[in-house]
Amino acid sequence: MRFSTSTVLALVSACGVLASPIEKRQAAAIDDTTILNYALTLEHLENAFYKGALEQFDAAAFASAGFPPWVRERFAQISEHESSHVALLAGALGDVAVQPCTYKFPYTDPKSFAALSAILENVGVSAYLGAAASIMDKEYLTVAGSILTTESRHQAWVSSAVNKNEGWSGPYDTPVGFNVVYSAAAAFITGCPSTNTALPFKAFPALTYDAATGAVTGASDGQYIALYQGLNVATYPIQGGKVMLPTTQGTAYLTATSEKNATLVGDANIVAGPAIVINHFKAEASNPAPSFAY
Ligand SMILES: *[C@@H]1O[C@H](CO)[C@@H](O)[C@H](O)[C@H]1NC(C)=O
Repeated sequence: MRFSTSTVLALVSACGVLASPIEKRQAAAIDDTTILNYALTLEHLENAFYKGALEQFDAAAFASAGFPPWVRERFAQISEHESSHVALLAGALGDVAVQPCTYKFPYTDPKSFAALSAILENVGVSAYLGAAASIMDKEYLTVAGSILTTESRHQAWVSSAVNKNEGWSGPYDTPVGFNVVYSAAAAFITGCPSTNTALPFKAFPALTYDAATGAVTGASDGQYIALYQGLNVATYPIQGGKVMLPTTQGTAYLTATSEKNATLVGDANIVAGPAIVINHFKAEASNPAPSFAY
């Protein structure tokens, strides 16, 4: 499983006050229609993800995976939410709305589906958060915020009530830029209708990171791994095909970049990614904002 993000964030270091959560190095201004189609692209994916799993795994399959009946029932509610998000965005876009693509998700049973659900919802939250600053129309911003908080509830429920892990990564969620999210989504897309409007985003080559050894593929010595967690970004050098990262909590994203200065990491210098790092942490653990320097 790989994922990651490519956001560029700047924090005022002295007191950790956020200077600007906006990705400054987007190639060009992205118009609202494009952002709505980007959101719709992700919602189509999520909609297909839940519909497909619920078709494939009936109540008995969830029961034999060890889940009580309410787990599948709540997933059915989430599936309805995603359908509604699709209908709302498609309705707003009218004729220019992108149509669903075809997808391939690597789940094989309700357990692996629930694990992937937590990851996809995390990426959804990061996507809306990363796009927020680019939305021009304030009314769209409210709609996007309403979807964002709902996806965040999904993520927290799946992660904690179903998967028995933490319901959050820390005090701040992680904004992720368009291309990094697009790269993560592309891993599940097998084809799209040729009539769909092409979005002005690109998928970066794959990046993998082995947490046990630090081994990296998709990037090489002389390049850096950018680690995004909450509102922080930090870079770490790749040496001997490996990178030494600090211990993170919950979900963090990685990209590979040619840029050492974390405040400059962005589309112009990202060479691969995203990869996703998940470190579950115990209820009794301290869970402050990540303090790694950059
Ligand atoms: C990183 O880039 C920022 C923005 O250009 C700059 O202000 C800062 O001095 C740079 N930091 C280093 C260590 O070069």
